[in-house]
Amino acid sequence: MAYYYNDVSRTFNEYLLIPNLTRKDCIPSNVSLKTPVVKFKKGEKPSLELNIPFVSAIMQSVSDDNLAIALARCGGMSFIYSSQAIGSQVEMIKKVKRFKAGFVASDANLTPEHTLKDVVEMKERTGHSTIAITEDGSPSTRLMGIVTSRDYRISRDSLDKKVKEFMTPFSKLIVGNEGITLSEANNIVWEHKLNCLPIIDKDQNLVYFVFRKDYDDHKKNPNELLDSEKRLVVGAGINTRDYKERVPELIKAGADILCVDSSDGYSEWQREAIEYIKQEHPEAKVGGGNVVDKEGFAYLVEAGADFVKVGIGGGSICITREQKGIGRGQATAIMEVAKARDEYYEQTGIYIPICSDGGIVHDYHTVVAMAMGADFIMMGRYFARFDESPAKKVKLGSNYVKEYWGEGSNRARNWQRYDLGEGTKLSFEEGVDSYVPYAGKLQDNLEVTLSKIKSTMCSCGSITIEELQRTARISLVSSTSIIEGGAHDVILKENNY
Ligand code: IMP
Repeated sequence: MAYYYNDVSRTFNEYLLIPNLTRKDCIPSNVSLKTPVVKFKKGEKPSLELNIPFVSAIMQSVSDDNLAIALARCGGMSFIYSSQAIGSQVEMIKKVKRFKAGFVASDANLTPEHTLKDVVEMKERTGHSTIAITEDGSPSTRLMGIVTSRDYRISRDSLDKKVKEFMTPFSKLIVGNEGITLSEANNIVWEHKLNCLPIIDKDQNLVYFVFRKDYDDHKKNPNELLDSEKRLVVGAGINTRDYKERVPELIKAGADILCVDSSDGYSEWQREAIEYIKQEHPEAKVGGGNVVDKEGFAYLVEAGADFVKVGIGGGSICITREQKGIGRGQATAIMEVAKARDEYYEQTGIYIPICSDGGIVHDYHTVVAMAMGADFIMMGRYFARFDESPAKKVKLGSNYVKEYWGEGSNRARNWQRYDLGEGTKLSFEEGVDSYVPYAGKLQDNLEVTLSKIKSTMCSCGSITIEELQRTARISLVSSTSIIEGGAHDVILKENNY
């Protein structure tokens, strides 16, 4: 006979935290959001921790190298999507590992043969007013000159004018040589009153720019998540089909951690993949998922997973529950897996971090998820809204939006995330192609979200995530009390929220 769960499957929206005593030390500046990512023994320190409890989803529309850099600089981590060729995923990992604060790879480049019209269009498209002029218009060939808005006047110059006629040519540029430190580069910028300093290699190929405005960049990012060689930390998604080829390449490129990307991780394919990786690459860290119950958790832990990702069907673009009728309310799933994790810790002395993946709608959902036992949170929609995500920003009516599509949508589906066995193809979609409201810069938004989390933690009398998990008091809410929780029985003025 089928097993019937008595408990209702519940979501974060159905819970609130009851404040605990706020001690005088419970102030936001005392709150630490450090959290473990990989398993560790009691009394030992995990070999990988986050400085803020957020990771970005393993999705084409979310986690490329650009977002990974922005997020690691704020203390979190991205898992670069695996639904792409091994070579291009490796390139993205390398770009993150090569990133040096203050040294910016040029992403607006033209050749001397382009025209002023091309310059204007590029400026509009990229928002950059400094354009590198290179031999073939790619970012890393011979630097021929640069164009800034001081080099032309739209009102006077013909749009057909060739770049070579008005660029500042290489012979007149002050440049730095590859290997220069940021403080040396900044000295040159200040001494010569430059806005930017191109850095070239011994063959005059462009390597980076150092901009005046970025000179104290690293000071603005005290939470930066760095490896032992002071490079940004980055993760990579993998699948259960080509891991034998993909994993060694990702490790070689410097990926700090891997995570099997699957909508349903309680599978023999996933077990095989994790066991294989642990055997062939014992140093590699690998997370498994997604699961929604204690059985799935135990299965992946036994296979050797360093963390377990929880969530089926709760993602904003996800239609798995409608299509297949599988899944579980995210809050219920987290609470059950966290209980299993705590029991496992008591029995073995090994702590397995769990990641709550998908379904975060309001900022406070993240802190509820952690109070329920999650160690860190994976989000797609949240990050897709920012400048740094790879998706296109478009105007919809009078508002700007960004594209956001599921890994199980037809748009991404040429790379399936589903364990179906060799050669099996899905004939239906598990995700939608959508828009999300454009929200600006990642760092600005993250600051607001984190300050809310810290404030909630202080109300709950906790200054660490571990303390929150141990002491939080959580209550179910009725649907009428949800209405009471919003503004009600007043006439709202415009521009509220
Ligand atoms: P969100 O933060 O609510 O947008 O959820 C993001 C999560 O949804 C991802 O981390 C994945 O676990 C999941 N996801 C991504 N693409 C799909 C899809 O096409 N179908 C179902 N779930 C998806």
